[in-house]
Order: sequence, then C-alpha cells, then structure tokens
Amino acid sequence: MTENAAASLRLFYALWPNDAVRERLQALQLGMHGRLIRYENLHITLAFLGQQPASHLPLLKKILADLPQFTVRLPLDRIGYFKKSRITWAGTHAVPDDLLALQSALAASLATNGIAFDHRVRFVPHVTLARDADPPADRPFDAIDWEAADAALVESSNSGGRLLYRVLAMRDLTHPPSGYTDLV
Ligand code: 2AM
Repeated sequence: MTENAAASLRLFYALWPNDAVRERLQALQLGMHGRLIRYENLHITLAFLGQQPASHLPLLKKILADLPQFTVRLPLDRIGYFKKSRITWAGTHAVPDDLLALQSALAASLATNGIAFDHRVRFVPHVTLARDADPPADRPFDAIDWEAADAALVESSNSGGRLLYRVLAMRDLTHPPSGYTDLV
C-alpha cells in the first residue's frame, strides 16, 4: 500500500517558520527544561484536525490554497507556560488581528466544508518549545520579528517513538490564492 492510500492520517494546519525564525527559536531553547522540540518541528498550530480519512486530502489542500491573502507580522516577544500540559512556548503579548482573521477564515472554511477539528479551546497562538517542562526562568530576550508567510497542511506520525511532521501542502499567504503546491 502506498502512503497516500493509508486509510487515515493525523493532520493539522500550521504557520510554518522560515529557517531564520527557527534558528532564533532554537537559541531560545538553550538551557530550557523539558523535552525540547526539534528544529524542523517548530510551528504554530492554526487548527488541529486529528485523524482524517486520506480521501479528504484533496479538499484539505484546497481549503489551504483558497485562504485569502494575509500579512501576518508576528513579534515573538513572550515566553509562556501551560501549567496543565507542562508546555513551555513562545508567543506574543499582542496577537495581531491578521493572525486572528487568518485562523477564523480557516475555521470557517473547515466548518463550511464539514471538516471536524478541535476548537474546544480558545486560540492561543504559540510555538511549543519544550514538553514535560518545569516553568521557565524569567529571562529577557530580543523579540523575534516573524513575518509569517507560509501556512502548511502537516501530517503527524510516530516512527520508533520519534515524532515526525511531514508537510503535505504549503501556501504562501503573502500572495492571493492561486492553487496549491502539492508536496505529496
Ligand atoms: P501543542 O504543541 O500545544 O501540543 C500537533 O500535535 C500540533 O497540534 C501541536 O502543535 C499541538 O499543540 C496541536 N494540537 C492542538 N490541539 C491538539 C490536540 N487536541 N491533540 C494534539 N495536538 C493538538
């Protein structure tokens, strides 16, 4: 069976950092307690879909491709901590309206297309930096000015206990919709 023929996949949509932002995020992880998220896995989740039938992939890629154009200037100027899940994350003190509008547009499109996703919790945009973490030390750092251009549809899988994220489709949000780059 080819991978595309798999019955279902665990999926999410994310803002996908460029290398410069990943490097800055990795620098923030230095000395941080917990299981550090690997460089290539750093992202902001826009919508977590969970298990989806593989037959939904064309629609899910089209939903990504059809998102309106957005300019998301996101200063990562805050280290936060989710006590319950013991996650240390990077985020922003003032969530830009464009990011909220992007997430709302995606959620609305998923709803219109009858795709279930996890929207029980309030959207708190964050890049998870460490799991199973103790609360981080309060230390000043230079804000990371991220001009978030790339949105991705990502498959999450596990290989020998190692979490693998595979980008299935990518969309440049800085341009109007014009079809999608099919990576798989
Ligand atoms: P987290 O980093 O805060 O755990 C892939 O699992 C991505 O989807 C992660 O960024 C994770 O956020 C996010 N996510 C959101 N809701 C989720 C859920 N119900 N189960 C697993 N991951 C979820």
